Amino acid sequence: MRVVHVAAEVFPFSRSGGLGDVLGVLPEVLAAQGAQTTVVSPWYGSLAGQPTEVWRSVVPELRAGPAPIFEVRVGEIVQNGVQYLFIGLPEFDRPGLYFDDDVHRFCLFGRTVLPMLRQLGVAADVVHGHDWQAGLVVAYAHLAGLKTVFSVHNLQYQGRWNLEEAARWTGLPQWTLGPDALEFHGDLNLMKAGLTFADAVTTVSPTYAQEITTPEYGEGLQGLLVRLTIEGRLSGILNGLDQERWDPRTDPDVPQFGDPAGKAAATALLRGEFGLDDAPILGVVSRLADQKGIDLLIEALPELILHWNVVVLGGGDPLLSAALSGWAQHPRVAYVGGLNEPLAHRIYAGADIFAMPSRFEPCGLSQMISMRYGTLPVVRLTGGLVDTVPADIGFRFTDATPQALSAACAEAQAEYDRPEAWQARMERGMALDFGWQGPAAQYLALYGRLGR
Ligand code: GLC
Repeated sequence: MRVVHVAAEVFPFSRSGGLGDVLGVLPEVLAAQGAQTTVVSPWYGSLAGQPTEVWRSVVPELRAGPAPIFEVRVGEIVQNGVQYLFIGLPEFDRPGLYFDDDVHRFCLFGRTVLPMLRQLGVAADVVHGHDWQAGLVVAYAHLAGLKTVFSVHNLQYQGRWNLEEAARWTGLPQWTLGPDALEFHGDLNLMKAGLTFADAVTTVSPTYAQEITTPEYGEGLQGLLVRLTIEGRLSGILNGLDQERWDPRTDPDVPQFGDPAGKAAATALLRGEFGLDDAPILGVVSRLADQKGIDLLIEALPELILHWNVVVLGGGDPLLSAALSGWAQHPRVAYVGGLNEPLAHRIYAGADIFAMPSRFEPCGLSQMISMRYGTLPVVRLTGGLVDTVPADIGFRFTDATPQALSAACAEAQAEYDRPEAWQARMERGMALDFGWQGPAAQYLALYGRLGR
């Protein structure tokens, strides 16, 4: 089985969130299970890695409008049994991952992928695209007669742009631009390209696969997603976790521990780092986005800080970030903006509870990490949070309101006052297995079914 993954992020070379994390492990495990695995991603200016240049070419016809002839560079890194190919285009040679002209950039990227694979002699039984940035590649692969899988990590980001302008960037035939394919409310929609042309569509949890067929979670695409469900083309495969990267027994960023009692040192470290008092610690590591319900957390803070220290790490929405910076004046609130991998580890390890008041959550990885580190998750019951957080470990609530979040935290607080029950919850959480073996085997079985 030869599989080519296409994605905008791949850890450790590039990452802004969970997508990068998934691409950082799934291909390695697929390779270990016997699949010949290639990952294609952009060669960002800020790429953390030094690919060896393996192909360089001039592709003038890709450009929209009169543009100078330009070069594509392709770099390769082979690591842990996986071939990573990075496509270098001038548009990606900037610091950072995402920009306002991403639809244009990923159209250019998408058009380069198959010709590049052909040139390098990389064959594919299955092309597996992830999120809208890979939607065009899935369309091209399908039209070339290849088998395709498209995975939705987040339906909210769809890669939309004015149809008339963007149609030229895709280079696709006119018939693909209608409402049955790429058109969506007068726009070009690259997520829809992936959904329409893939032989199989997956999402990153079974519950999210059901939710996105409803108006509440379907982001306007629920009609198409209902059709895919009826045709048996939509399913959920729960993400795994990189259990080596996230292991409290070997984690170099924290005082290591293997049982609930051993966690005290990690908690003391976090307490010391932010000068917190003796109250238990509520941790958050998150993109600051509407999806994540951080506004609900901020609204609940007046209540929460009566009983909890609150430590938040994450960047994103400037308004949410400003509100958190304001709150950080309070001795029981600490806020650090941006991505900070070592601090993330210290929060997962040191906090007592971990809050995820998500409005929607395709899978979510933080709740799995938390449980592994003996930190009990407080989660809204949506998407992957339903599928991963058992009621006898975490604290769960239904309504997306600050009151419901506060009530779940109050429940946690009552349980915290019963040390034996608390410790039993921690033990159950630390013993869960979220390895990638099972999910990878499910993907391989899916790839196998496509042949028939
Ligand atoms: C996106 C989703 C998140 C999921 C991740 C990896 O970031 O928001 O829920 O865990 O992708 O699939």
